[in-house]
Amino acid sequence: MYKTDYPKGFKKDFLWGGATAANQLEGGWDQDGKGMTTAEVIRKAENKMNLTFNEVTKESIEEAIADKTTDNYPKRRGVDFYHNYKEDIKLFSEMGFKAYRMSMAWARIFPNGDETEPNEAGLLFYDKVFDELAKYNIEPVVTLSHYEMPLALTVKQNGWASRDTISSFTRYADIVFKRYQDKVKYWLTFNEINAGTFGFMGTGAIDSTLTEKEQLQIRYQALHHQFIASALVVKQGHKINPEFKIGNMLARMQTYPLTPNPDDVRAAQENDNLNLFFTDVQVRGEYPEYMNRYLSENDVKLNFQPNDEVILKEGTVDFISFSYYMSTVTSANNAGDKSVGNMLNGEKNPYLETSEWGWQIDPVGLRITLNEMWNRYRVPLMIVENGLGAVDTLEADGKIHDDYRIKYLHEHIIQMKEAVMDGVDLMGYTMWGCIDLISASTSEMSKRYGFIYVDQDDNGNGTLRRYKKDSFNWYKQVIKSNGSNL
Ligand code: BG6
Repeated sequence: MYKTDYPKGFKKDFLWGGATAANQLEGGWDQDGKGMTTAEVIRKAENKMNLTFNEVTKESIEEAIADKTTDNYPKRRGVDFYHNYKEDIKLFSEMGFKAYRMSMAWARIFPNGDETEPNEAGLLFYDKVFDELAKYNIEPVVTLSHYEMPLALTVKQNGWASRDTISSFTRYADIVFKRYQDKVKYWLTFNEINAGTFGFMGTGAIDSTLTEKEQLQIRYQALHHQFIASALVVKQGHKINPEFKIGNMLARMQTYPLTPNPDDVRAAQENDNLNLFFTDVQVRGEYPEYMNRYLSENDVKLNFQPNDEVILKEGTVDFISFSYYMSTVTSANNAGDKSVGNMLNGEKNPYLETSEWGWQIDPVGLRITLNEMWNRYRVPLMIVENGLGAVDTLEADGKIHDDYRIKYLHEHIIQMKEAVMDGVDLMGYTMWGCIDLISASTSEMSKRYGFIYVDQDDNGNGTLRRYKKDSFNWYKQVIKSNGSNL
């Protein structure tokens, strides 16, 4: 129907907030019966361009298990939310958060992943966190698996490469869905599910010494298992509580062609399809045709069981959530200069500035992406990660002047609002790393995203004291004005 009116701003109940992940935030890695996770065997990088998350081998895991310190494995220490959650949540509430996206450490609940009974102490911790959030009317948005799983499942069956991991995951989901059914309404299954195409961090499957062809096979098979697991728990969750809203989570990377040459445009379309493939499966409940060709031409043979088709159809998600940090550029013959960045091997866009870590900053790309995803899927969208990783300076007076972060967020929120005015159904925005935490890609502490500064350096030295950055008060008034005061 044609209407003469259109939205002029964000919905009244827009979910403003921040996002974190257990493995980068919590610490308490060996407390209260928790098992080791795959994130805790990823060594810290030597420098900011050194990505160690996919260099894991059997030997490096054995070495990590033998090492009982946090020295080389910063994700073990996080920023000690485990003991500071009350203070941290209070600070979130001071900013006026309506929502807090967090993840649960599966290994707190099932230390080895395959027990029949959960670890009560682990469940109690999340009870306390959810109760604290409820105290301030902050809606939790909970990711079941954010770049981690019980390490024992990797050792025993190579993580998601094994179909057996599906039943361990559905058991874990069943326990937490039932336990928290009155405390949590919004759930996400796998964080940045497409990161599985880069290996271990997403799949928990060791594949760093395999050939490229073998890697492709193991990664797409592991991803198929995650699709099935995700679909099963969506169905299971709705049975437990029909009010649940369960979403997927994609690392969205909008692709632009390097030039208007149709060959470049087609290359960009293909690259974009490989990114949206994940959402195609999770929203439409089936593999898209273009993937049949891609998988065949790359010699990937999936073990796709007879009932899988039905499972995927019956477990489609209620909404799409995604992270957005940058866009990328592709050409048919790789003519452009290479860009760098988190898991991204695109080409340089001469029109964009980059962060200190080489990520191409593109606020308009967020509006383009929101429109494209809305037009393709027609289901509500939620931006559950967006932000700037930067080096911050703690001044002698305890202040942190992060005007560059305010500028970044300001520009992205403006484009987000434009997309809402274009008609996109947007549920919320949880800025990434609302409190400083350990970087996913490099395990550095000095790559900071937060509104809240945490006094800790790359080697784990510091008081862990929390300080408000200038962006803290800025975001507070953004939320208070529901995004009209930017
Ligand atoms: C996303 C992840 O890829 O980007 C987060 O879901 C991560 O876990 C964030 O922290 C920023 O990446 P990084 O490598 O700068 O921490």
